[in-house]
Amino acid sequence: MNLVLVGPPGAGKGTQAVRLQEAYGIPHISTGDMFRKAIKEETELGKKAKEYMDQGKLVPDEVTIGIVRERLSQKDCHQGFILDGFPRTVNQADALNSILADMNTSLDAVINIKVSDAEVIDRLSGRRICKSCGASYHVKFNPPKVAGVCDECDGELYQREDDNPNTIQQRLNVYSEQTSPLINYYQERDLLETINGEDSLDNVFVEIKDLLDNIK
Ligand code: AP5
Ligand code: ZN
Repeated sequence: MNLVLVGPPGAGKGTQAVRLQEAYGIPHISTGDMFRKAIKEETELGKKAKEYMDQGKLVPDEVTIGIVRERLSQKDCHQGFILDGFPRTVNQADALNSILADMNTSLDAVINIKVSDAEVIDRLSGRRICKSCGASYHVKFNPPKVAGVCDECDGELYQREDDNPNTIQQRLNVYSEQTSPLINYYQERDLLETINGEDSLDNVFVEIKDLLDNIK
């Protein structure tokens, strides 16, 4: 199954993608995670991406499309994939269509996870990430068993640099200006499925899974 998850920052794309990866045995591809890894490793890509990410702006399409093209060409994506955070512009969506056409495949569904701006602000200001394994928590909505410590690997939890109030607002603006046109784009192509992302983590997962089980 070839899936795309769209939604504003903090909608729960990453959280649900991890669960879907386990349920369907297909890789979770997050452009945000790829950029954060490159930043940590101090590569050229990381240096370039950091400039934009710190300001809550999109990394230029030519950089982003290139890394996705390369990732999708890897063997583990041939049975399906879950794209999280890509595409984010109409130009990226057009590029994805042509990448998939070159692979003789196409998208099965685009899940639009809908949440309000107020909920985004609550979620992102309380999000904590594991330094070692990248697992994501929320101080109120999905707390680790021991405060500040990852349940999976005992790693230390930290707050993402772009999860501060100014950058969150900038990311919301970028979503509304550059990414939200994708809702119509995929609706017109009859691929869009919208779900209420303000339900509990478990209920959102069940809703997405029910929907996908009907598509299969
Ligand atoms: P990226 O890493 O993709 O960030 P994002 O889209 O802003 O999304 P988030 O990771 O913030 O949120 P999420 O929807 O995954 O939510 P999560 O599951 O963590 O991108 C970062 C930056 O990289 C961009 O700003 C840009 O600069 C660059 N970039 C990335 N892709 C790009 C592209 N294609 N083109 C150009 N630039 C790109 O959940 C959030 C919190 O809420 C967590 O704490 C979680 O525990 C909690 N939570 C989740 N679900 C629920 C629920 N149902 N109820 C209560 N709490 C919940
Ligand atoms: Zn961990």
